[in-house]
Amino acid sequence: MQTESEAPSPLALLAQAAAAAQSWHDVGEPDDFPDGAVWPVVAGGLPVAVFRQGEGLYALHDLCTHGAAKLSDGWVEDGCVECPLHQGTFDIRTGAPCKAPVTEAVRTFPVRVVAGRVEVGL
Ligand code: FES
Repeated sequence: MQTESEAPSPLALLAQAAAAAQSWHDVGEPDDFPDGAVWPVVAGGLPVAVFRQGEGLYALHDLCTHGAAKLSDGWVEDGCVECPLHQGTFDIRTGAPCKAPVTEAVRTFPVRVVAGRVEVGL
């Protein structure tokens, strides 16, 4: 029998429900994503740009929020990706705009490695 002190908190239950509702999409092996680079993949039919920074893997919607440009065609430097069209930049960890002309964050997706495969959550 579960006591009140052993019961998961409401926040833990919400996190579990969100994780269960998420669908994960295989996008390759960890070695497919070299450190400091950006790679285009398709996850669940959606274009996604996958980044590696050291041991961390990150994923952004592969479409600039300022115009019709693919961030996977951009340049990665100092934790940001530069859009190839007007050189606005986004933080690859948070999707937040770092440099004008971009003002709107780009959507981020969780990334995990399961059994040697990289998965993006949508
Ligand atoms: S289209 Fe990306 S900065 Fe303008």
